[in-house]
Amino acid sequence: MMTQNILDYDTVALDDEKSALVIVDQTKLPGKVEIISLTKQEDIHRAIYILQVRGAPAIGVTAAFGLYLAAKEIRSDTYDSFYAQFKKAKDYLATARPTAVNLFWALNRMDDVAQVNAGLPIPDLKEVLRQEAVKIRDEDIWGCRSIGEYGLSLIKDGCGILTHCNAGQLATVRYGTALAPIHLGRERGLNFKVFTDETRPLLQGARLSAIEMVSNGVDTTVICDNMASQVMKNGWVQIIFVGCDRVAANGDTANKIGTSGVAILAKYYGVPFYVCAPTSTIDMSIAKGEDIVIEERPAEEVTEMWYKERMAPEGVKVYNPAFDFADNELITGIITEYGIARPPYTESLKQIFETKKNAKK
Ligand code: MRU
Repeated sequence: MMTQNILDYDTVALDDEKSALVIVDQTKLPGKVEIISLTKQEDIHRAIYILQVRGAPAIGVTAAFGLYLAAKEIRSDTYDSFYAQFKKAKDYLATARPTAVNLFWALNRMDDVAQVNAGLPIPDLKEVLRQEAVKIRDEDIWGCRSIGEYGLSLIKDGCGILTHCNAGQLATVRYGTALAPIHLGRERGLNFKVFTDETRPLLQGARLSAIEMVSNGVDTTVICDNMASQVMKNGWVQIIFVGCDRVAANGDTANKIGTSGVAILAKYYGVPFYVCAPTSTIDMSIAKGEDIVIEERPAEEVTEMWYKERMAPEGVKVYNPAFDFADNELITGIITEYGIARPPYTESLKQIFETKKNAKK
């Protein structure tokens, strides 16, 4: 199916009637906007692995819908037999990618619901699982909008914003995290000058952030990753917003490879560096960045994937870590849906979770 504007679509959706996960296939962007429906667990797992759907919050919502769809297919009359198959499906989806904590966070939420409701008849249990997955999706939309509001309070009409990778609508269900302030600002008639790092090797900045920005009429400049220093030196960037895949309890933040370099440059040039993090991406069980598992991906992504012809000689070694982490001391603030955490993060992140708990009462 073809469409005109990428922002008209939820990045991830559930088609319950057809028992399908519906996603924008991000491997086709920006050339082609293609919406695909996936019904098999292997296809959902693969879609996460090959980045047809990507970005930590979108992966979380995909996992929740995916696990619900797996549960729906289970033909068992007893809870024990149902749960054994449910657990198998959960464990399988959990192997799709290792770094974004949202994957495990969403699967664990679904698992908790399955266990707490063990006494329900199986059809009712399936229904509460559906409701939980929808709730995870709805919370994502609300949370991104809230992050957008907090982010928007930090910027002025016309200011220069640099971002790395894609932490926009395409990385969530709607709005995005790092790009949410910009999307919300557009709703209110503001405009900004946005610099998107191309983000080698998979070009999420050049392909995905750029299409979102252009689709929303934002003044957008794509730069190669090694140009970030120059645009900061020129004084063109007043603030940096990035997303994250996992924030440790001390504020160290894993995000797309290159983020740590951008944070170091920002410190040098005195540009505020903000991480936009829904609480679903903050992992208080991990003490520090060094403890976060960093995904390594295939060499072809570096040597040939986005080139007409292979660009590096056969036989060279390739190192392709998909993420790095920015040290907490480089981060000006962590923008969550419950407010902006400031250093020291060991304290302020705890406070954010306290606020979240009280908001739920
Ligand atoms: O490998 P990707 O494209 O899934 O990496 C995505 C990022 O690094 C994003 O910045 C992060 O997941 C935050 S998305 C709101």
